[in-house]
Amino acid sequence: MRIPEHKLDEIRQAADIVEVVADVVSLKKSGQGFTGLCPFHNEKTPSFRVNPDMGIFKCFGCGEGGDAFSFVMKTEHVSFMEAVRSLAERYNVDLPEEDSTPEQAERATRFEKLYEALRFAANWYYQQLKHHEEAEKARVYLQKRGFTIETIRVFGLGYAPPSGQALLDAAVQEGIDESILLDTDLVKPSSKGEGVYDSFRDRLMFPILNPSARVIGFAGRTFDENKGPKYVNSAQTDVYNKSQVLYGIHLAKSVIRQEKQVILVEGYTDVMSLAQHGVKNVVANSGTALTREQLELLKRYSNRLLMIYDADAAGQKAMVRGIELALEMGLEPETLQLPEGEDPDSFVKEQGQEGFIEHKRKNTEDYITYLLRLAEESGRLTSMHERVHVIEELVELLAAIPDPVARQVATQQLHQSTHKFRGGSDRELHAAVDASVAKRQQRNKLRQTRTEDSGPRTVSGASQAEGPPPIQDEGLPLDPSAEISDSVTPSKRRPEYERRLLKLCLEHGAWMVDYIYQYVYPSFLEDSQYREFFELLVERAKRQEPIDRSTFRAFPSSTPELLATIFMEKHTPGSRMSERMKQNRFDQVDEVMEAKSTMKVLVTHYLQRLKASITTEMSEDKLPDTRRQELVTMMREAQKQLNTLQSTAAEHCFENPAGYDPEQKRKEGFSYTPKPRKSS
Ligand code: CTP
Ligand code: MN
Repeated sequence: MRIPEHKLDEIRQAADIVEVVADVVSLKKSGQGFTGLCPFHNEKTPSFRVNPDMGIFKCFGCGEGGDAFSFVMKTEHVSFMEAVRSLAERYNVDLPEEDSTPEQAERATRFEKLYEALRFAANWYYQQLKHHEEAEKARVYLQKRGFTIETIRVFGLGYAPPSGQALLDAAVQEGIDESILLDTDLVKPSSKGEGVYDSFRDRLMFPILNPSARVIGFAGRTFDENKGPKYVNSAQTDVYNKSQVLYGIHLAKSVIRQEKQVILVEGYTDVMSLAQHGVKNVVANSGTALTREQLELLKRYSNRLLMIYDADAAGQKAMVRGIELALEMGLEPETLQLPEGEDPDSFVKEQGQEGFIEHKRKNTEDYITYLLRLAEESGRLTSMHERVHVIEELVELLAAIPDPVARQVATQQLHQSTHKFRGGSDRELHAAVDASVAKRQQRNKLRQTRTEDSGPRTVSGASQAEGPPPIQDEGLPLDPSAEISDSVTPSKRRPEYERRLLKLCLEHGAWMVDYIYQYVYPSFLEDSQYREFFELLVERAKRQEPIDRSTFRAFPSSTPELLATIFMEKHTPGSRMSERMKQNRFDQVDEVMEAKSTMKVLVTHYLQRLKASITTEMSEDKLPDTRRQELVTMMREAQKQLNTLQSTAAEHCFENPAGYDPEQKRKEGFSYTPKPRKSS
């Protein structure tokens, strides 16, 4: 369905970009806008800006930018239509239905109806808890457990009365269809044939909400643990997917970002108690095995995952499984053990916020320490034979870490914690981990080939199993000779930042080429034609030949198509926006600043490609030790430079060109005298 432009405008007007962004990024007022840490790349100094007047955001580090729609698309990984819908709904803009196909419209309305019914039920249960006579025992129970009225309200607890039809009757009176109630599992068909009855009866109700705070299902706790299961949960429905649920996420998500840590507990009441005591970056996976989807969701908010599970065998087993999964997905798992017999709920009630935080500070273990302690406690470190197995298990675990540098750091740590009883050098351990990585990759490759044979190919026809290009040359990352071979397939889109760099050169001439060449060597460019062209520009600058738009004719493989790609702004929302921003002097984006942010993106991409190709080479079987050593050094160097780039605002990543003074330039324009270049 197409949404008319005026509707989009209406949503844009209604949606407060600051509020939309602040959901994900903590923002500080700055000038006429706001700044914060960019959610699209790693950085330690904020280069991400929001301009509320124009309704746009822009990162001057990585170049991401756009309006509220693109922000939602990028952060929630949804399509344009989904982003439009979610914002329209959030800001109460009615979307026209007439354009959609009847099936689409029906589907959308049906989902709306499911959500409405669930929201209605949550409110109704809450009202019952407050007023229903029979809810007295629920109120007493909650009071005994120490939950405050405020906590009950914030989490929206409720009470389902014992009668088999109370909710059903109330909902039907509200005009909600029985079929909708069935589809949300709020009522069930009677097993005796005719009619339906309430799914939850005489239970304390915990509404379960998704990250956008929509009610998707319920858990109902019994008051008598001898009578049936302690918790009954909504069945799987179109809106309630157990493997994606994280209890409390709608309340915790922004705090998780601020605290840069998510605490994962087992139970609903653990989340509530911790929150009541001021620890709010907490979610529960509701006693089930942690899933990839849950971790994927958490990863949006933070990489650091602290698990606090019961000290019993089941809890430990769940934590070990959680660690494996978290490592595989690039998260940093930690664990915290509570004293025997305690759960987070009981512990924080006894010890209060301070006691909890103090315990957490003292007793949080990284996963290596934790797993070794488990092994020790089960006597596995005393037998020589068992010890070998423990190390093997850990080696396999570390091999799951996707980032090679993080993996090396972990391996080094494993060495330090085990060398006393393991014997052997750290090099052997690194080699063991590498071998395990290679085995994994082999396994994955096999799996991939198998699925590829049966499944559809990628659109481009390129095989996904194809790794990054191998390094052709030896040498350190920022060495101009460290070239990465061409991976450019003809159909591949040329990198936008490389185009922008060339355009800057052609528009500003020799001094710009000179300036950029201080930091960017031709070999950093991925697109082969762009690279050749940049080489030519550098040559011309060295020979002090003029550089302007006409220089293009001197380029042997010049084509109108290439010229066009260099000079034509694609009218994507992004580039239109950057034009708009310049006109509005939203930030004083001048050519030096533009060059800096472009170089930052370009060099970052180069280093990432370099890392990828090092990784590929490292996984080769018959790699000479000397070469491996070199690769490790190169990898470290590349990572160091990446870290620096990512933690520094583009403006400070590179020096200003000699004679350039932004203040001066603002006043009277910039005249530049190139300094003589040392010939290299
Ligand atoms: N759970 C469940 N079904 C059960 C038992 C447990 O879904 N029959 C899930 C619930 O999400 C529960 C979590 O596992 O919150 C942890 O279980 P437990 O520790 O037994 O419950 P608590 O949340 O601690 O509840 P309470 O403190 O009220 O005993
Ligand atoms: Mn409990």
